[in-house]
Amino acid sequence: MKRKVLITGVNGLLGQALVQTLKEQYQITGIGLEESPFLPTDGWEYHPIDITQTRELKTFYKELCPDFIINAASFTNVDQCEVQKELCWRVNVKGVENLAMMARRNQAHVVHYSTDYIFDGKNGPYSEDERPNPINYYGKSKLASENTLLKENFPVTIVRTCVLYGIGVRVKTNFFLWVLEKLQQQAPFQVVTDQYNNPTLVEDLAMGTQLILEQQMTGIFNLAGPEVLNRLEFARLIARVFGYSPDLIGETRTETLNQLAPRPVYGGLKIDLARVSLGYAPRPLNEALEYLKRKIQQHG
Ligand SMILES: NC(=O)c1ccc[n+]([C@@H]2O[C@H](COP(=O)([O-])OP(=O)(O)OC[C@H]3O[C@@H](n4cnc5c(N)ncnc54)[C@H](OP(=O)(O)O)[C@@H]3O)[C@@H](O)[C@H]2O)c1
Repeated sequence: MKRKVLITGVNGLLGQALVQTLKEQYQITGIGLEESPFLPTDGWEYHPIDITQTRELKTFYKELCPDFIINAASFTNVDQCEVQKELCWRVNVKGVENLAMMARRNQAHVVHYSTDYIFDGKNGPYSEDERPNPINYYGKSKLASENTLLKENFPVTIVRTCVLYGIGVRVKTNFFLWVLEKLQQQAPFQVVTDQYNNPTLVEDLAMGTQLILEQQMTGIFNLAGPEVLNRLEFARLIARVFGYSPDLIGETRTETLNQLAPRPVYGGLKIDLARVSLGYAPRPLNEALEYLKRKIQQHG
């Protein structure tokens, strides 16, 4: 019999990749805020459930009683987290407390995603055991969510990742999609040179999560792409792979963007632990972009 997996935030970029990666091997139930799922429900089930609504979540959870909870639900707009602090905390921390309350009932294994934004970006890339020091509200809420889970007795895996990119059905824009859209417009635009981290193909993150489930690994793991580079380098690589002139992209610096939330500058994550102990093998950035190019050509 297939083991039962509950995936939260299933309509998001990562949630969709998780369903597609795990549905053959596991019995998947996905929950999200929308009335209907963005992906067709072939081989998995969907329920519109908000992780902050304790009573509804409890009733639904009692019935399902999953072996694993994968929490891909989050308030992810980093600048909006500065404005809507209460909502950010409710989703990113209280929602996780609710999931912990559920997991306690049946000792379910919880896999939860966090970010390199829990660090201040003074000297990344960071390994799993370095001291967090978030500099924006999103980072603070994600660190609090990690701490909520790490004090529990049921099995917990914290997966830290950064700069997710990929395509999905009706997903919010991500850096890769934004750059591609700008390139398609053929007008010059600017990208920052002073923000470093490792872009992570969402399918590779889902594959890493599958390894965690198979091996039932607990603890903290960095699952990110293999190369640390700045956003301009990433954008110019996208241009080259997709057949646009990299010269369309000029350079700028973070302070010119006037973003509401301060950004960690030298961020990124070291992935050696995941490579050695999980067998995590994310594809090189160039290959990942070629893969996306083929996927876009096939699916539009
Ligand atoms: N994206 C990145 O670059 C990045 C980097 C580092 C870490 N991460 C982490 O990776 C995880 C997945 O990110 P992602 O890029 O897939 O984010 P995403 O596309 O924004 O997906 C998050 C999903 O959670 C849903 N959601 C929000 N509040 C909810 C609630 N109360 N109950 C149930 N679902 C709720 C959202 O629905 P709505 O869209 O309707 O609000 C959305 O479908 C998050 O934990 C994020 O913090 C992401």
